[in-house]
Amino acid sequence: MHRRIFAPGVLAASTLLLAIPASAASHSPGAPGIGDPYYPDYGNGGYDVSHYDLRLKYRPSTDELEGTATLLARTTQDLSRFDLDFLLDVSEVRVNDAKASFTTSGEHELEITPKSPLDKGTALTIVVRYSGVPSSKQAYGFTSWHRTPDGGVGANEPEAAWWWFPSNDHPLDKATYDVSVQVPDGSQAISNGTLQSTSSRAGWTRYNWRSNKPQATYLATLAVGRFDITTGTTEIGIPVVNAYSKDLGDNDGAARASVERTGEIADWLTGYFGPYPYNALGGYVPNVTTGYALETQTRPFYSPRQFANGSNTSVVVHELAHQWYGDLVSVAGWKDIWINEGFARYAQWLWSEHEDEGTAQELADYVYASHPADDAFWTVKPGDPGPENQFDAAVYDRGALALQALRNEIGDEAFFALLKGWPQRYAYGNASVADFQRYAEQVSGKPLAALFDTWLFQPSKPGAPAAREALL
Ligand code: ARG
Ligand code: ZN
Repeated sequence: MHRRIFAPGVLAASTLLLAIPASAASHSPGAPGIGDPYYPDYGNGGYDVSHYDLRLKYRPSTDELEGTATLLARTTQDLSRFDLDFLLDVSEVRVNDAKASFTTSGEHELEITPKSPLDKGTALTIVVRYSGVPSSKQAYGFTSWHRTPDGGVGANEPEAAWWWFPSNDHPLDKATYDVSVQVPDGSQAISNGTLQSTSSRAGWTRYNWRSNKPQATYLATLAVGRFDITTGTTEIGIPVVNAYSKDLGDNDGAARASVERTGEIADWLTGYFGPYPYNALGGYVPNVTTGYALETQTRPFYSPRQFANGSNTSVVVHELAHQWYGDLVSVAGWKDIWINEGFARYAQWLWSEHEDEGTAQELADYVYASHPADDAFWTVKPGDPGPENQFDAAVYDRGALALQALRNEIGDEAFFALLKGWPQRYAYGNASVADFQRYAEQVSGKPLAALFDTWLFQPSKPGAPAAREALL
């Protein structure tokens, strides 16, 4: 562990100036961002969170959320103050049992000044009491809180936490979670992990959820509404809890016909990616109007729109593939999004093959052929797409094409060893595209710089010679 080292001169001076805390001069504010070039003010500097305990109450009729967040953390530098990322209204902050002063700044910073400066390596218990109407709050002109006819849902990427709990909002700072939410009897609260218990009194029911493996902040989710909850167990004994809005209308059948196959699909994915990394599994479909799905840890979020044309097991494969590629191994920075989306899309191609709906090679051929050289599709570099193109189709489709090219270059044996080895290599941690290239070179014994550059970093359609690697 890090210990603070005093310069002898500083020690002498501080013993003379007794009114000034010995180390105050060396303590500085934590940075308002963790250092992600795509999003300079996302996350924060100076501390590391290990656990979030969120004890909340939510009123579906008014969208009012209130409660207390208790964060366990440790300082990583001498700190005079530090930030959390948050949008709701804070009434009190305590740091290590002493009242701290606080103010807001920027788009989403909660600036906290503890009573006394904090030395590097200090264990912190940060208590934040808050309330607010999440749907009334915006940052950069948008909201990630989805109001539904019977409640609300917090789910988005990269931003989701600001609307419902204060955090160090960047995948680099993963933590475990206890999420306890009181809702009116008849409503349900859905979150990540295991439903430890529920209890009812005086018209309110409390749902106690636990996610006990490191989890990135954007993968934490909360949904309140009127849900039908189903339970089961996968073949390998993982408990499955799914939740469907009672108001899915015409999409209800297709949603259930897809999400009820979560256990089967997770078991199938273990054949490619190795053991399922969590002790809980499921999916939930709230009555939102938004279009995307999200790989919220252990329990993906699906939009009813995904099921508008009938069953869609492919989206379930995609979100469950992220449990390994994205959740177990998370991006080191948001520029590394290909190590999430390229692989989740490739898993869909493998599922297509499994379902006799076209092989991965056929889908790669199709993607390559369907985008002519002058298509803007090829200007997006999946390996560094920029924040504006983080979820562009190229990150997914060209991203998966890159994996087909890699597979053809190194052969099936090395390729599938790589797919299975990677989640273990960086389990519960973070990694970058560069880390993946290094690992691929190590597993295959081949230099791959040119292939990665062609498929992930050139703003143009790979030409015939390179394409031949992918299109045998
Ligand atoms: N990781 C999500 C998925 O592909 C993408 C979320 C995109 N977010 C958005 N606001 N469009 O499963
Ligand atoms: Zn995805």
